Amino acid sequence: MESQKVTIASLQKKKSSGQKITMMTAYDFPTASLVDQAGIDTILVGDSLGMVMLGYQSTVPVTMDEMLHHCKAVVRAAKRGFVIGDMPFMSYHISVEDAILNAGRFIKEAGCDCIKLEGGSEMAHVVEAIVRIGIPVCGHIGLTPQTATKLSGYNVQGKDAESAKALLQSARDLENAGAFMIVMECIPDMLAARITKELSVPTIGIGAGKDCDGQVLVYHDLVGLFERFTPKFVKQYVNLSPQIRDALVKFKNEVESGAFPGPEHSFAMKPEEAKKI
Ligand code: KIV
Repeated sequence: MESQKVTIASLQKKKSSGQKITMMTAYDFPTASLVDQAGIDTILVGDSLGMVMLGYQSTVPVTMDEMLHHCKAVVRAAKRGFVIGDMPFMSYHISVEDAILNAGRFIKEAGCDCIKLEGGSEMAHVVEAIVRIGIPVCGHIGLTPQTATKLSGYNVQGKDAESAKALLQSARDLENAGAFMIVMECIPDMLAARITKELSVPTIGIGAGKDCDGQVLVYHDLVGLFERFTPKFVKQYVNLSPQIRDALVKFKNEVESGAFPGPEHSFAMKPEEAKKI
């Protein structure tokens, strides 16, 4: 596996040569280390952390301080992976100045390589302004969880010709605004393929079929650590929750029965020293 730091140029090269790009969420040091060791190209500190790490009902309540706290831990772990800081709801909506200031905090305070923000054509001017000052931006279209209420829930987007055309236009506008990559969430595979073919920047799919330039999943979904619900697009590669629960119950039982700690987990003292106590 190549150990050089992933760059925008190397991601672009993957698209050009038809090699798939990998992206995984991580929110803490040990997870980000594992993701990095696995050779995943890009590590997304998604605002999904609000749901899978902090127990919120949606991503809406996530704050800048929460995002920066988790981004810093991930950046400390990422030796190779390109770290993406996800801008939380209302951190880029009030004004362009506010958006630039908050994007800058992800780079300057947390050490992220770029930021991601949700929205299509209506956000292109914000993307353009952030890119203009030198911060790389990853777009995010389709199902945008921060505005799921406006979309009437966590539904597949772009199912009819009119909304599909709007998404295609959004992708074009984001590319023209300077976005270096675009996440497409929950859109029909044919539409994702069409957008991927037309754009020159890489597309990353989540619930967008196999023809995107790359794929992303939420780490907790992939390893079975989020038990509230599992979206259709998730593939669970391992189910850790029952294994961890079993281990915890074993610990509880062994402490209560006196089986843990054993002599192998304890520290001896010379008997002559013990006598002097
Ligand atoms: O917050 C997140 O994890 C995301 C991914 C689902 C793309 O935006």
